[in-house]
Formats: sequence, structure tokens, C-alpha cells
Amino acid sequence: MANCATPGRKFQQFSFLKIGYLEEFFPLTKNMTEIMIQSQTNTIFALGLNNVCAKFLFVSDLDHTLVGNDLAMVKLLDNLQLHRIQHGTKIVYSTGRSLHLYQELQESQKRKQKELIKPDILVCAVGTEIYHYDSKEELVLDLEWSKHLSCNWDRELVARTAANFSSLKPQPESEQRPFKVSYFVQEEKALQIALELENLLVKEAKVEIQIICSHSDHKEYNKNLDILPSSANKGIAMTFVREKLAISVGKTVACGDSGNDIALFANRQEKGIIVGNAQRELLDWHHNNPNPNRYLAKTNFADGIAEGLRHFSLL
Ligand code: GLC
Ligand code: MG
Repeated sequence: MANCATPGRKFQQFSFLKIGYLEEFFPLTKNMTEIMIQSQTNTIFALGLNNVCAKFLFVSDLDHTLVGNDLAMVKLLDNLQLHRIQHGTKIVYSTGRSLHLYQELQESQKRKQKELIKPDILVCAVGTEIYHYDSKEELVLDLEWSKHLSCNWDRELVARTAANFSSLKPQPESEQRPFKVSYFVQEEKALQIALELENLLVKEAKVEIQIICSHSDHKEYNKNLDILPSSANKGIAMTFVREKLAISVGKTVACGDSGNDIALFANRQEKGIIVGNAQRELLDWHHNNPNPNRYLAKTNFADGIAEGLRHFSLL
């Protein structure tokens, strides 16, 4: 951020001038950010080279990625907030949590005075729900996205089929969503069950689903197993959001730590950051699917994200 602070301060010296007057000096300039950068002869070059002051789309998982080390999180969010104000950077949280559990997390961070800043867009329930803020600053569901997910999805059949597997323990009611049926399972049983479910639902019943397994903090069951329509996951939701915001793949970065984040990184041109504390399931996948656009941080949680953003010269 140090690079950005200098032009920002100097720009204030220009801010009393009328745009028309500035245009005489900077005829090619369309917006204030460009004026600011163009007015700093010495810094233009550095900014142009490392891109530190360009707008980007920041997409991050919450649990064990952005959230995990409160001090590091607050520091990173302060920097991102500044970048949002100065450059129009967009902040998107993409969580496996339902809106209900997201709000619980928000409240508990607030009580600790280590708040999650308001995102521009919130993606919940492993990419199956997208929320925007309306003019009253209230979260509203993106109905276009929900409509898109309802093709070839039969929630009732999915839940009925999965109920036959006694090793699957249903997650709490709040996590059962219109386009997400979720269970806890023991790791050693997860793969076999996923294969059988896929066979029953995709091959036999012709329902277009996908099964996503990720680490769980549950005492008895160490995996979450989510069944979603094949048209949604965190990666597909990121594309939808990115296109809505009209930000290019090259200016998008996604961060995660576990199995449900693989979709943020698989076959993607967006930049990816895996935090140092990532789960084995994601690390194994990362090592088997190398991609120069993906960075594995040495440090954990929000420190790992900041390290990755510096690696990509975004912050
Ligand atoms: C969150 C959700 C849970 C889901 C898990 C993994 O913990 O609350 O329902 O299974 O993420 O995607
Ligand atoms: Mg996570």
C-alpha cells in the first residue's frame, strides 16, 4: 500500500481544481484515478509496472482462510477497504455457510471487535446462493442465479436417495438449502458413498448433481459432504459474479483452504491463493494439478492471503 499512499496524498492537492481545468493538463484522462496516477511522474512508472493501484476482484472463502487469525484479518481487510475506496476493488466472500451461519459469524466477529467488513457481494451455501445489497443496504438473493440452478435439479429425490445411507449424518436444518443437501461423514467412508450416490443420481435417475467433500470441524465426522446441482459451485458462482461486475479473469483472485474451494481453482485463469494452513484434500489436489496462476502461501489465514496478493502485485 505504501506505493499508493503517495499519489493519494498528492492528489488531494489537485482536488480543488475543476475537472475541465485538469483536462487541459491531462487531455487523455477519463477518471480521477488516472489523473491521480498521471500526475505523479516518478510513481507512474512503478505503478504501471507492478499494478499495485489497479482495481481487482477479491474473492475469498471465510472459515480457515480469511477468518482464523483476527489480527491478520483486520489488517488485511483495512488494506482491502482502502483499495476499494481508492481504486474500486470489489470484495466478495464465498462461503459454504448458509446466510444464517454467515450472520452468526459476523455477529461473533463484531462482539470481538474484529469485524468482517461488508462485502460487495456475498456468495453462500457453496456457490448456490448469491446475495447483493439493495438500496436500503439489505442483502437480497439473486433470483437470476437461483433460476439458473433450478434446471435439472430435484432436491426431494436427492434427499430421499441420500437418506438411505446410514453413514451420512444430516447437517443442521439451517444448512439444508434449496440447492444444497448437506451431511457429515467419516473420511474413510466418504469416497465410496460419493461414488454410489453419483451412480444412483446421475447415471440412474439422470439428475445433474455434483458431490463436494471438504474438511469438517465436527468432533465425530471429519468431512462435510454437499450435494449440489452440477450448475453451481464456488467456481461457477465466481464467474457469474465476475461477469456481473465486468472484471476480467486476469484481474480476479480467489482464496481458499479446503475441498469446497477447489472449484475456485480448477481449470481457471483467475489467480488463486491457497493459504499455508490449507487442508490436505486441497494441497493434494493442488500438487496434482499445477497451475502457474496459483500461489501456495507459506503463511496462514489472512497473512497467507496478504502474502499471495503481494506475490501477484495486487496489494
Ligand atoms: C460450511 C457449511 C456446510 C458445508 C461446508 C462445506 O461449513 O455450513 O453446510 O457442508 O461449509 O462446504
Ligand atoms: Mg474454508
